[in-house]
Amino acid sequence: MSLPPVLRKLRLPVVGAPLFIISNPKLVVAQCTAGIVGSMPALNARPASQLDEWLAEITESLAAWDRDHPDQPAAPFAINQIVHKTNDRLEHDMAVCARYKVPVVITSLGARTDINDAVHGWGGIVLHDIINNAFARKAVEKGADGLIAVAAGAGGHAGVKSPFALVQEIRAWFDGPLALSGAIAQGGAVLAAQAMGADLAYIGSAFIATDEARASDAYKQCIVDSTSDDIVYSSLFTGVHGNYLAPSIRAAGLDPDHLPESDPSAMNFGGAATKAWKDIWGCGQGIAAVEAVVPARELVDRLAREYAAARARVCAA
Ligand SMILES: Cc1cc2nc3c(=O)[nH]c(=O)nc-3n(C[C@H](O)[C@H](O)[C@H](O)COP(=O)(O)O)c2cc1C
Repeated sequence: MSLPPVLRKLRLPVVGAPLFIISNPKLVVAQCTAGIVGSMPALNARPASQLDEWLAEITESLAAWDRDHPDQPAAPFAINQIVHKTNDRLEHDMAVCARYKVPVVITSLGARTDINDAVHGWGGIVLHDIINNAFARKAVEKGADGLIAVAAGAGGHAGVKSPFALVQEIRAWFDGPLALSGAIAQGGAVLAAQAMGADLAYIGSAFIATDEARASDAYKQCIVDSTSDDIVYSSLFTGVHGNYLAPSIRAAGLDPDHLPESDPSAMNFGGAATKAWKDIWGCGQGIAAVEAVVPARELVDRLAREYAAARARVCAA
């Protein structure tokens, strides 16, 4: 099946993944105008009333870009909704998204028919992120248009499945839009995701080390300085397993090699989450490819160059 029209005309088959606290309108606009889907969690706008201002900023900036650059129109943007009982803003945030007819909604955690119906009602599409094939089936049964397979090594809440296994299992029954995530930070890996059967690569951590990202300089530099050896997989901080930078865990006075376990009952997307994610830095395993903090456009340019080179290499072989 071909991609829905909204995802067809990207410069590069990449989605800039939503990053709690870090993504903001400047990063989203930079991603979209560089030719990839830009995204942010609705919850990053605080207080809730700020979401309206941020969506106005994004839609107006992208419309202005399109007026000035008719030959290189901006890619669509996406808003991430955390569908979880502790997200008491969901209804409000969905109503704001409806006002702006947000073209792509990324749902995480819960798959709900009413949310999918609402997005379809204003002409948008829903991509739901999952860490295994069973959740993937449930999401599509509930009406998601596409899937984001979050494989091992992804930043933030991550699964444990090899991307090869996950994409293979999903493609055995699903021919709709499929993005692959987990440690992708290099153009060759974007091509590899497509070769495996995904349509799009979904890249988060590499965008933390960009000028536009709302992260501290120390966090950005830590991504530049670190490799996969510095990433720790733990359930301690949110109740769900995720990948984090070991130096931030040490700075919080904990031993990254001996962390206690937690459980999903500890999961909370209210104020406690903001504190946990400010001090403990989420990050995926792919960051050895990140050598400097650069404008987001420059990162997309690098990915595009590497993607073209990888394609030429593979085609010549
Ligand atoms: C710091 C951080 C915060 C994240 N916050 C969210 C979030 O709010 N919502 C969400 O759906 N995914 C979130 N993610 C996951 C990303 O959207 C994406 O799946 C992941 O970054 C992909 O793996 P990569 O970081 O190795 O590229 C977060 C990831 C990181 C690193």
